[in-house]
Amino acid sequence: MSTATRRLGDAPDPTLLDDAERMSVDELRALQLQRLQWTLRHAYENVPFYKASFDAAGVHPDDCRELADIARFPTTTKADLRDNYPFGMFAVPQEQVRRVHASSGTTGRPTVVGYTERDIDTWATVMARSIRAAGGRPGHKVHNAYGYGLFTGGLGAHYGIEKLGATAIPVSGGMTPRQVQLIQDFRPELIMVTPSYMLTVVDEFEKQGIDPRTSSLQVGIFGAEPWTEQMRLEIEDRMDMHAVDIYGLSEVMGPGVSQECVETKDGLHVWEDHFLPEVIDPVEGTPLPDGERGELLFTSLTKEALPIIRYRTRDLTTLRPGTARPGMRRMDKITGRSDDMIILRGVNVFPTQIEEIVLRTAGLAPHFQLVLTTQGRMDALGVRVEARPSTPADRRDAAAAELVKAVKDTVGVSVTCEVVDPDTLERSVGKLQRLIDRRQR
Ligand code: DLL
Repeated sequence: MSTATRRLGDAPDPTLLDDAERMSVDELRALQLQRLQWTLRHAYENVPFYKASFDAAGVHPDDCRELADIARFPTTTKADLRDNYPFGMFAVPQEQVRRVHASSGTTGRPTVVGYTERDIDTWATVMARSIRAAGGRPGHKVHNAYGYGLFTGGLGAHYGIEKLGATAIPVSGGMTPRQVQLIQDFRPELIMVTPSYMLTVVDEFEKQGIDPRTSSLQVGIFGAEPWTEQMRLEIEDRMDMHAVDIYGLSEVMGPGVSQECVETKDGLHVWEDHFLPEVIDPVEGTPLPDGERGELLFTSLTKEALPIIRYRTRDLTTLRPGTARPGMRRMDKITGRSDDMIILRGVNVFPTQIEEIVLRTAGLAPHFQLVLTTQGRMDALGVRVEARPSTPADRRDAAAAELVKAVKDTVGVSVTCEVVDPDTLERSVGKLQRLIDRRQR
């Protein structure tokens, strides 16, 4: 049970919602169809890649007469963006592009995305809506520790904070002691940061002898990487604040594609007036009905500079009916990407499954790495996890044994576990890379 006692955002004010957030499902579907038809034509007429891919699939924008017709159009992948590096996917002349961002791209070329002036305004609008859904209000101060630069997190959040009428504190990631000092001195109500870096900041509070529960923070808006319900409880307990989820990706816009509402914390409402979600079978590519888990796809509905059609996110989730915003569907918290999935002796393992278990095991800190190695002809998975500073030395072996047993019982695979000293595993200031692949190829 969360012990968060500060209730910023617990009394949602429906008068603050914008028109799209009040639409009925029928009104929204009509708006989506009109915007989808525009987007398909805009992409086909202005991006040679889309003309070629639609032609090859034998479809034309005029073939979209109802929303379900979207399934007739071809999907787009990260490789398509890379092949058109840097600006080949842009649908407007360069003079109309006000900004570019790029994804980090651990291998090969990054993917580059662009925004017109109107795109930047749309993005700020959905981000402002997201922060408001998280409990933020005009006049609040928001500590923004997402990285500024080519990554969409920092600037995306920044423009949304300003658009809401809140005060942006543009700290970016890194220099952890200073993060704590600025929070203590400026007394922000909200923080926006990756959940893994939030943990580093919480640890720093404790290192400086400050009880993190006494800080001014009331809500944290966490995203850019998967995190679990168990992690929500850890952060809410240690910080005495609400922890809510924000999702997005550069190719579709950046942060602010979907957002969890603080009053329900039951998955993320997709801002469907701008982004049309679908779920498909990741192997067959066939559409799945709402309620079934599969790979999430997005089609942008209003973007000018980089219209994106049926983008394969590789993220796995389920679409469900709206709750706090009844017109807009929700997506379940992302438990993993198909890319992060480890297949160990035929069993699919996601790092989030291990996270749940680490956080449930007494004595273990939420800092861990997964190390894949080759043993004989088999892959082996090792969990390296820090002990909590308060854990007695003689508890470590028992904690490791408990984790190994829980992974075997719930995930169905055998792993090894090494409990290391507190503060010894590398911390990330942005997106955390949990998996270290040392397999011999
Ligand atoms: O991570 C945008 C973002 C910034 C989202 C700040 C939220 C907050 P990319 O760098 O393009 O964009 O990475 C997108 O990150 O496909 C997911 O795999 C993952 N991701 C983003 N948000 C979440 C989340 C930004 N809330 C990729 N939960 C996506 C799980 C997330 N994974």
